[in-house]
Amino acid sequence: MRACVVLLALLALPAGAGCDAVPPAGQIVPAPPSPVVAPEALVKRLEAMQPAWPREPDCGQAKCVALTFDDGPGDHTGKLLDMLREKGAKATFFVVGQMVAAAHGAATVRRIVAEGHELGNHSWSHPMLTGLSGQRLAYEIGHTGDLVRRLTGVRMRVMRPPYGATDRAVAEQTRRRGLAQILWNVDTFDWRDRVPALVAKRGAQVRPGSIVLMHDIHPTTVKAVPRLLDTLGHRGYSFVTVTELYGDRLRPGRRYEQLRRR
Ligand code: NI
Repeated sequence: MRACVVLLALLALPAGAGCDAVPPAGQIVPAPPSPVVAPEALVKRLEAMQPAWPREPDCGQAKCVALTFDDGPGDHTGKLLDMLREKGAKATFFVVGQMVAAAHGAATVRRIVAEGHELGNHSWSHPMLTGLSGQRLAYEIGHTGDLVRRLTGVRMRVMRPPYGATDRAVAEQTRRRGLAQILWNVDTFDWRDRVPALVAKRGAQVRPGSIVLMHDIHPTTVKAVPRLLDTLGHRGYSFVTVTELYGDRLRPGRRYEQLRRR
């Protein structure tokens, strides 16, 4: 305290300025007026102060990878979200409508959104979409999209056809509904090999711009994630959502397997 007063005197500042002085007991200190700043004004001010704000990875330059988790939400998705949060990693969840409608599904998709991850449409009941009637195809995509929108307010921009099976009818349906078709270029085969070390090893076979296929319904996959994040993190990768990976380049109806960097 004494050092503070001396310092302020040297600087010709009024006593108390800049020092966290503790008021004497019993003295009522009025709360400082809370600054009223409109959020839009704050954004403008921050952007002016630091041109790189908000921080969006430019995946055409930075090393990005999109981890994707299909077929949930399931019993292990919460644990996976804990792990992703711990490492500051973002991912994309291609959800099955029936799973969203099941117990805890709504809470989990809301948490996925709240924690900055992306939701993608993986149909209502996980059939092969190729060969379905137009009406059934519309239902498989539309019903899941409507439910997710109702629960989270999110209009999904990406979808993944179950088994990666797609054709012109699927392309047309997804185009009409504003969904890009997202496949993958790295397959962990985690549904077949329930061995975390193996899943982590396969998931690490990426290059910048890769999209990695995994399934959060398997506990062995969730167990593989910390090791995968560590391995790729040490190699300098950022973990982004599919939409972050592509920026504004995704087009409804088109198919994507990886970001090809120029
Ligand atoms: Ni699937």
